[in-house]
Amino acid sequence: MTFGAGALAEVGVRARAHGMTRVALITDARIRTLPWFDEVMSALDGLDVAVFDAVAIEPTDASFDEAVRFARDARPDGYVSLGGGSVIDTAKAANLYATHPAPLRTYVNAPVGDAQPVPGPLAPHIACPTTSGTGSEVTGIAIFDWLALHAKTGIASPRLRPTEALVDPRVTQTLPANVVAASGMDVLCHALESYTARPFTLRAKTPQRPMSQGRNPWSDLGCREAIRLCAAHLAAAVEGDAAAREQMMWAATLAGIAFGNAGVHVPHAMAYAIAGRVKSFAPDGYPQTPIVPHGMAVALGAPAVFTRFVEFAPDRHREAAQLLGGEELGPAVAALSRRIHVPARLGDVGYTANDIPDLVAGTLPQQRLLANAPCAVDADCLTELFRHALD
Ligand SMILES: [Fe+2]
Repeated sequence: MTFGAGALAEVGVRARAHGMTRVALITDARIRTLPWFDEVMSALDGLDVAVFDAVAIEPTDASFDEAVRFARDARPDGYVSLGGGSVIDTAKAANLYATHPAPLRTYVNAPVGDAQPVPGPLAPHIACPTTSGTGSEVTGIAIFDWLALHAKTGIASPRLRPTEALVDPRVTQTLPANVVAASGMDVLCHALESYTARPFTLRAKTPQRPMSQGRNPWSDLGCREAIRLCAAHLAAAVEGDAAAREQMMWAATLAGIAFGNAGVHVPHAMAYAIAGRVKSFAPDGYPQTPIVPHGMAVALGAPAVFTRFVEFAPDRHREAAQLLGGEELGPAVAALSRRIHVPARLGDVGYTANDIPDLVAGTLPQQRLLANAPCAVDADCLTELFRHALD
């Protein structure tokens, strides 16, 4: 992990150190127009570079397939990804299926896919994030929409974790305020969910501990510091303060290290249903199609979860609330959302009480996440949580 202003200029040296001669550079059409793309291209000067810029904003099975076809044709010996979580996740998938060809469902999480283990190492991958949110540069997870199944699912394997992360906080200068706000709430929830997840000692080992192993002393380190950084810097980062944006970039990476190891739980499970069933909500700063950006969707369910689940880890909820400058965690998270103008109620993004059964049905298949909650989570529990989130 390399962090700091100017880190992008090091990508060529790092690529050579991994023995790359022909690089697949994965990005999207918007980032290709930004100065960061030119910096990466000049840093890779002298290497053979094939560019793929057709990454979809929320990747799908179809857009993953397109990237895999590109990778099979281009035959790179290494990958560089430059973009947000969508780009980095697409690079992981391209690398996986070009290196170990198989039908898409083979490595996809159960119950949607076959959840087969990845059979061996992938080609080296240097991930360069351009948003301060997903933490994908340090996780072994790739998320996508399986269109025909109307399901948000993913692939989770330590083999998917990029070989290196080059995190250059200057990229946050070009982010719209709304994107900093939504992705900042995503960072905060990565940290809070990892901090309140089921303890790793209580996760079923079948036959070995799962990659998302539950809260543990290592993930706690990143969580506490990320929560503290969000409390101190998120509001100023939204307002455009460059130093605060740099701190949020660091918080995003720390929270990524934590959740890539401990795993998130119910707010993220609820978020996939909230984002997947969007009707007409279309916030500024995003493509003007109906979308509840991931960070906003996560922040909508979080206050209800952190209120309902206090009893399972009262000390941790209190400690996290105090790091945020509050007494109770659920209200403290909602207060931060309101302060940075992120929707705080499900009604704000177009949902009513009539939608709750559908939202519950959309959340139940996220078993990988629900199993990481500090308690058993069934349809009744989710109904109560969505009702709370509504008002
Ligand atoms: Fe997230």
